[in-house]
Parts: sequence; structure tokens; C-alpha cells
Amino acid sequence: MKSNFNPFTLEGKNFLITGAASGIGRATSIILSKLGAKLILADINQEGLVSTIKCCDSEAISLQIDLSDAASIKDKIFKAVSEFGKLHGIVHVAGKSYIAPLKSVTEEKCREVYSLNTYAAIELAKTFINRNVYAGERGSIVFISSVYGVVGSAANVAYAMSKSALHGITKSLAIELAGKNIRVNCVAPGFVKTNMMDSASSMFDSNYAETLNKLHPLGVGEPEDIAFSIAYLLSDAAKWVTGAILNVDGGFTAQ
Ligand SMILES: NC(=O)c1ccc[n+]([C@@H]2O[C@H](COP(=O)([O-])OP(=O)(O)OC[C@H]3O[C@@H](n4cnc5c(N)ncnc54)[C@H](O)[C@@H]3O)[C@@H](O)[C@H]2O)c1
Repeated sequence: MKSNFNPFTLEGKNFLITGAASGIGRATSIILSKLGAKLILADINQEGLVSTIKCCDSEAISLQIDLSDAASIKDKIFKAVSEFGKLHGIVHVAGKSYIAPLKSVTEEKCREVYSLNTYAAIELAKTFINRNVYAGERGSIVFISSVYGVVGSAANVAYAMSKSALHGITKSLAIELAGKNIRVNCVAPGFVKTNMMDSASSMFDSNYAETLNKLHPLGVGEPEDIAFSIAYLLSDAAKWVTGAILNVDGGFTAQ
């Protein structure tokens, strides 16, 4: 007799995914929907959200939001949740890179990167723990950092600052929220084939495809590679995992 045993299922769970209009956020939305989750898909790009929703297998709604505007996050999520239903987790995928040598780094640019990549994560977590938002059982928050939150690279201080800060936030929140039965984890991807990877290729010489492959013993990643790790961290299969920084990088940081 076939068993229904599946600790990785996301049936009966609702999640909010940021950055859902493209790349890793879109792949995550599609994989979570195939695992049975219902989704609020958040991004600044409404057209991209509509395209993602068309690829989803379960109920999904769009939430157009500028996550750099911290003051608007709580009210917009409260409104979406009151119409959609309470959440079992939040995934903060939206982010931007900023490649610049030290001499041209400005405070304004650092703040811009920080507000989306880092402070939005704090504001999202703060919103999630509210009793009007959190469904109250086995909550899970997942942040997306980068190998450049783990190791250094030239011309990358602002992005590295924004992503390494997520590692400290993950560990502190894991302790603070354990009593509410909310787990907090972070996935640190290597280079993944998305629009962002194309724009980051300016970090390398004209042979960048070869350089990137050398950095990753398993080759560069597909958005799905990150989506699967997020799905695991959201599922009850990860019920004893919190405060973890999961390197999903084709071996980049193993070298
Ligand atoms: N692609 C890679 O190689 C790579 C590697 C490591 C980490 N990451 C991280 O993965 C995450 C997703 O990146 P991706 O590669 O899918 O890039 P992407 O550019 O395809 O997706 C980023 C998404 O964020 C959204 N966004 C940008 N600014 C926003 C704002 N102010 N408010 C709301 N949404 C906004 C964009 O509209 C887009 O849909 C980022 O946090 C990135 O730092 C990517």
C-alpha cells in the first residue's frame, strides 16, 4: 500500500514571498505552489507578478509593494492578509546588488542597498509576528543572503554589508522567536542564472562564464536550486532547524 508520508508537503500553509516577479523569487513561488502552499506574492514589479501567478498551481495573489519604503510594509501586508488569510511564513527574496570600487561607494547608495536587502527583512519579520498576521503554529522565516555574505570579493562592500548583516539578524531572531515557535533561517546562494547574475557579470573579465564556472565546482545554479532549499526550510521536515545559514552554492564556499 502506498504511504501518504510526506514531511516536505506545504499543503494547508500560506506564505508571503518577496521578489516573486522574477528569478529566484519566481522559481520559489512556483515550487511552493506545486507543494500545495497558498501564496501572497510581493514585488515592486506588478507585471512580473501577474506572469508568476500564471505559472502557479495553487491560489496566489499579488501585492505590489516597494520594500525600500519600510513605513508602508506593515499596512500593506496587514491588508493583504486580512483578505487572504493568516501566514505560516515569510520569505524575503527581493534584493539588489551594487558593484562599485571603494573609492566610489557613497553613503546614499549603501543606504539604498541596505533598506531593501536588510532593513526590509527586519520589518517583514516584525510584521509577521503580529497576531493579525501569524497563523500561530510552526512559523518559518527565510532570508536570502549570498556567498558574498560569507566570503569577500572586490568592489562589493555595500552588497556584502547588506547580506552578511542578514546572518546576524537570522541568528538573533532565531533565539528571540523560538518561544513563539517561529524558526528563522537564511539561504546563502552562489551565482544563479537570473537577471541579477547577468548584471553582476561586470565584476569579471570578458571570460566571465568560464571564471564563474571555476568558482562553482558544480557549475552555476538554476533558480530552482535555491527554491528547493527554501521549500525545505519552510516545511515541517526542518522543524528542528533554526538560526542556520545554508550555503546553496554548487561548492563555491567549500573551496
Ligand atoms: N542571482 C544570483 O546570482 C544571486 C546570488 C546570490 C544571492 N542572490 C540574491 O537572491 C535574491 C533574488 O535575486 P535574483 O537573482 O532572483 O534577482 P532578480 O533581479 O531576478 O529578482 C529580484 C526581484 O526583486 C524585486 N525588487 C527589486 N527592488 C524591489 C523593491 N524595492 N521592492 C520590491 N521588490 C523589489 C525585483 O522586481 C525582482 O523581481 C536577491 O536578494 C539576491 O541578492 C542572487
